Amino acid sequence: MDHHSAADENQRATVEISKDENGISQVLLRSPRGASARVSLHGGQVRSWKTERGEELLFTSAKANLKPPAAVRGGIPICFPQFGKRGSLEQHGFARNRIWAIDENPPPLQSADSTNKAFIDLFLKSPDDDLKIWPHSFEFRIRVNLSIDGCLSLISRIRNVNCKPFSFSFAYHTYFSVSDISEVRVEGLETLDYLDNLCNRERFTEQGDALTFESEVDRVYLSSRDAVAVFDHERKRTFVMRKEGLPDVVVWNPWEKKARAIADFGDDEYKQMLCVDAAAIEKPIALKPGEEWTGRVELSLVASIQ
Ligand code: BG6
Repeated sequence: MDHHSAADENQRATVEISKDENGISQVLLRSPRGASARVSLHGGQVRSWKTERGEELLFTSAKANLKPPAAVRGGIPICFPQFGKRGSLEQHGFARNRIWAIDENPPPLQSADSTNKAFIDLFLKSPDDDLKIWPHSFEFRIRVNLSIDGCLSLISRIRNVNCKPFSFSFAYHTYFSVSDISEVRVEGLETLDYLDNLCNRERFTEQGDALTFESEVDRVYLSSRDAVAVFDHERKRTFVMRKEGLPDVVVWNPWEKKARAIADFGDDEYKQMLCVDAAAIEKPIALKPGEEWTGRVELSLVASIQ
């Protein structure tokens, strides 16, 4: 037990629902020690994750368009039922553009202890309009959970309520806030194969040690181990991402030229962000009628010794 514990026993995790500037519900999760996370029903998207000292850990562009249906540039948009752009489905799928509901009565989650955690369950059903572009009925549940020590976890459950099988790809498109991209390194992807979106998804093998950044990066690392770390030297902190059910990891930074071409992104903002996504892309997840898939990610922050 550390010095926080006695006081924490008397504090409660809180969950507060309010409306945002567009009248859409948002949920503020607060841990007993004061860490917080904000989740919007627009996209079921985590928009903010703060330490107990109030430092923001996720990047959001100053030029982000907060009005639905466009997904907000920042936080953790959910890419489903596809990652990227193929066929007539919109880029990264429609889940991030839809308005989700609060799931008042979710089916129990295995190994999810809710003691002293602030959490919310959200729900997305295949809306009729979407059946025209993706003709499969599903139920998508997500639990967003903030632990007593400020770890943020997202647990997605997708169920096939069709009478025929379907498959999908998926990503938690996580925009980490970093001090300066040139001071960042990512560990846990060494020696892996990756698909390079900048070279028509050609397959390469990662050579060097940790990954560092000096130009545009847009890759899908394949079958990675279940923990990846993002070191921010300048801020002396490290994000640790642990995942389950999500074999791949996307790493994206648009760099200078691409940044200028993205309307809802500032010209210099590429320096302050890095997307590292727990994902299932290379081998789509296949669900038979009645089957359910679960994909978890847990994000935590550690002060780093670098
Ligand atoms: C990344 C993709 O994950 O997301 C990039 O690999 C894409 O190719 C980026 O540009 C942002 O996508 P969007 O649709 O949110 O602008």
